[in-house]
Amino acid sequence: MDKIWEDLISLNSFVEPDFEVLKPAAAYLESDAKKAEWDKLKYATALKNDTYPLPTTKDREGYYGPHHFSYWASGLEDARNVMDAARKHKVKVKNYLDMGCASGRVIRHFATEKPKVNVMGCDINRLHVEWCNRYLPSSCSVFQNHSIPNLPLAENSLDLVSAFSVFTHIEAFETTWLMELHRVMRPGAIAWITVHTEDTLTDMNENWPLWRAVMNHPDIHNIIDKNRHFPGERMVVRWHKDRSYSSNVFYKKEYLQDVWGRFFNVLELRRRFPRFQDVLVLQKPE
Ligand SMILES: C[S@@+](CC[C@H](N)C(=O)[O-])C[C@H]1O[C@@H](n2cnc3c(N)ncnc32)[C@H](O)[C@@H]1O
Repeated sequence: MDKIWEDLISLNSFVEPDFEVLKPAAAYLESDAKKAEWDKLKYATALKNDTYPLPTTKDREGYYGPHHFSYWASGLEDARNVMDAARKHKVKVKNYLDMGCASGRVIRHFATEKPKVNVMGCDINRLHVEWCNRYLPSSCSVFQNHSIPNLPLAENSLDLVSAFSVFTHIEAFETTWLMELHRVMRPGAIAWITVHTEDTLTDMNENWPLWRAVMNHPDIHNIIDKNRHFPGERMVVRWHKDRSYSSNVFYKKEYLQDVWGRFFNVLELRRRFPRFQDVLVLQKPE
């Protein structure tokens, strides 16, 4: 089929899914070479309760390659960090949205650990949406959005939003997305948004997942200097593809405070938390 304009603002909208799925996470615990790294999570009960299949590596954005248990555990860690932030900032959560949820790495854990929360996810990739709605607990509802900011949700309807590795790729409409999230969040609601900052760029090394996409770009040395500093407020490393979601975006922390701070109170900026990216905890003013 010829490409049409929707192909530029969403992914796989007209592709029919043909999924293979993996077993639930418990099947991969013993064979996962990295399993000891996750012991701090105390995951035994979560592992027992999560009887849902895992996506294959291809259906989860390549996350954790062949390490299927690690993929699952990373989502548990991220979900618990978001829950802890809500508790810390005294936000009672009934309605939660994970923007750019992919095949549910994080929301599957909200569904099993917080069964009373209305768990929603959205993604521009229809295959991810289909995957979640077929294989995750029925208490999760996932819908497709596109890269032009517009969510089919009522204003002031969410208590909690997360976006893991999504604003790290949003090149156009970044502030419009912030306005859209602001619209659907209730006063006092918080958002957990991961970002690349100038620190990410100077901290990263060849072992980071980001390295190849940034440092192999043909123009990168015209943009950054030998200390990996970039000019201006934000840097976009764009691979030219005929679709949205093919860039890596880096922000100066001062810009995040000044510009993102116009929409939200910046409660926290956590550096490299818990792994490679920085996290902003934002609150819609009461
Ligand atoms: C790097 S992946 C991260 C997936 C997931 N958040 C996780 O941490 O496992 C980025 C995801 O965001 C989605 N995405 C990119 N731009 C988006 C947008 N404007 N709105 C919703 N999803 C978007 C992509 O399709 C992809 O699934």
